[in-house]
Amino acid sequence: MKVVILKDSDSVAAYGADIFVKHINKKPNAVLGLATGSTPVALYKKLISAYSNGHVSFADVSTFNLDEYLGISGDHPQSYRYFMNQQFFDHINIDKNSTAVPQGDAEDPIAACEAYETDIKQKGGIDIQLLGIGRNGHIGFNEPSSSLMSRTRVKTLTRATIDDNARFFSADEYQPHLSLTMGIGTILETKLVVLLATGESKANAIKAMVEGPLTASCPASALQMHQDAVIIIDEAAASKLLDIEFYKHIEIENEKLKERLAR
Ligand code: GLP
Repeated sequence: MKVVILKDSDSVAAYGADIFVKHINKKPNAVLGLATGSTPVALYKKLISAYSNGHVSFADVSTFNLDEYLGISGDHPQSYRYFMNQQFFDHINIDKNSTAVPQGDAEDPIAACEAYETDIKQKGGIDIQLLGIGRNGHIGFNEPSSSLMSRTRVKTLTRATIDDNARFFSADEYQPHLSLTMGIGTILETKLVVLLATGESKANAIKAMVEGPLTASCPASALQMHQDAVIIIDEAAASKLLDIEFYKHIEIENEKLKERLAR
């Protein structure tokens, strides 16, 4: 795990967006794994600006989103498909037919999950997976106690996640308690993970993920097993880490090494 600690949320979004832009420029038909929640919004804004300024093209990119609410369709304003269109896809030159989000209104959700896994494989796997993290350490909708080997499936949300996400729903609006989510095993197979977290409310989850034991109680701790995971966080989200100085030192040494190799 590479832990990058930056001063604020804007720097976190910029650092993450830069990884995506560089990767897409190297591999124009990259397969991206995308995430919802409030944290990635700033990164999507940076990618939209990069596209508007001619620094990147999404014409040949394809995407798979992590998760979706079960029981609502893609045109429902609370669906993650709707969110992705509004926050990102409608503002870039991506072919919407190349953007996949698990189908919340599938007649057979179990078959839809299996098909999602097949579709990812057929595309050759996910090159870069963007992640946020829940306050309880969930990634996607893989709640605590999720199997660390899990694949895309139907998952029941915890009370904590339902309460955290209630802010997006109005008081009398139906809020789903079930989801379709890529599994932890699915996420571990992606080639590069870019996880973003900002704010003090994420500090406990970040500590458990980076310095805690590998445990299904903190699903994000499974990323300790990932071959290439970059954790980009602001000072507030990093505030409970024990080894902050070491992580910063590693970054300084990495930068020096990069400079030396570029000479
Ligand atoms: C939801 C999503 C997760 C996301 C989490 C945190 O539960 N399923 O993918 O990481 O929210 O969201 P936020 O960034 O708003 O804190």
